[in-house]
Amino acid sequence: MARKLLIAANWKMHKTIPEAVDFAKKIKELKAERDILVCAPFTLLPAVAQELQGSSVGFGGQNMHFEEKGAFTGEISPLMLNELKCTHVIIGHSERRHVFGEDNALINKKIKSALAHNLIPVFCVGEKLEEREAGKTQDVVKEQIDKGLEGVENVDSVVIAYEPVWAIGTGKTATPDQAQEVHAFIREFMTELYSDDAANELRILYGGSVKPANVKELMSEKDIDGALVGGASLEFDSFSQLVNPQ
Ligand code: PGA
Repeated sequence: MARKLLIAANWKMHKTIPEAVDFAKKIKELKAERDILVCAPFTLLPAVAQELQGSSVGFGGQNMHFEEKGAFTGEISPLMLNELKCTHVIIGHSERRHVFGEDNALINKKIKSALAHNLIPVFCVGEKLEEREAGKTQDVVKEQIDKGLEGVENVDSVVIAYEPVWAIGTGKTATPDQAQEVHAFIREFMTELYSDDAANELRILYGGSVKPANVKELMSEKDIDGALVGGASLEFDSFSQLVNPQ
């Protein structure tokens, strides 16, 4: 069975409530062949949730704590995302790893917690420029997946996003060949860790400067099953062109 493409918006720390509501209203009216997901800042989520509930557009947070509650100043729990009926949550984004110091062990706890709370984790992996240049891309990605999914028995509802750090927000997209090579490697490794079926059904998104001008080429690669999009997801016009390319 062919995997359905998923186009996911990662708004990062952008947008006001009226802007978010306006975007959500437009996006739910799009007739799209691709699945759509909007990952919004926490303050926007109630308004986005209200707009998108009952539509086929998924929505969720960009991070969460793994505990349900407790003395964790500034954090948001899976129960809080559940309360808004979020469908997904981004876990282990490179900005969480490299700006906020999240490591594979913490990301593993978050993935397990998301799954235990019926949230689909969009689990991000990817190498830094110096790691690519040193020929370590596969080792880095393999370790991130191995440790991130440690003890996770079922990956039916996991989405992986391959986001080379050097391509995020830089305008430097991985070429379709470069991305496909890593995606194929990830799928092969998932076969090893789980099974052929699990690996075949797994959606692996590409992220890093995806925009209307390069989306077609990237999405035509065999193992690229969608995109996680920052900059080009902020404006409805460019995001809608990723969902329905011309
Ligand atoms: P970008 O961000 O599309 O702006 O490169 C992607 C991401 O960080 O998820």
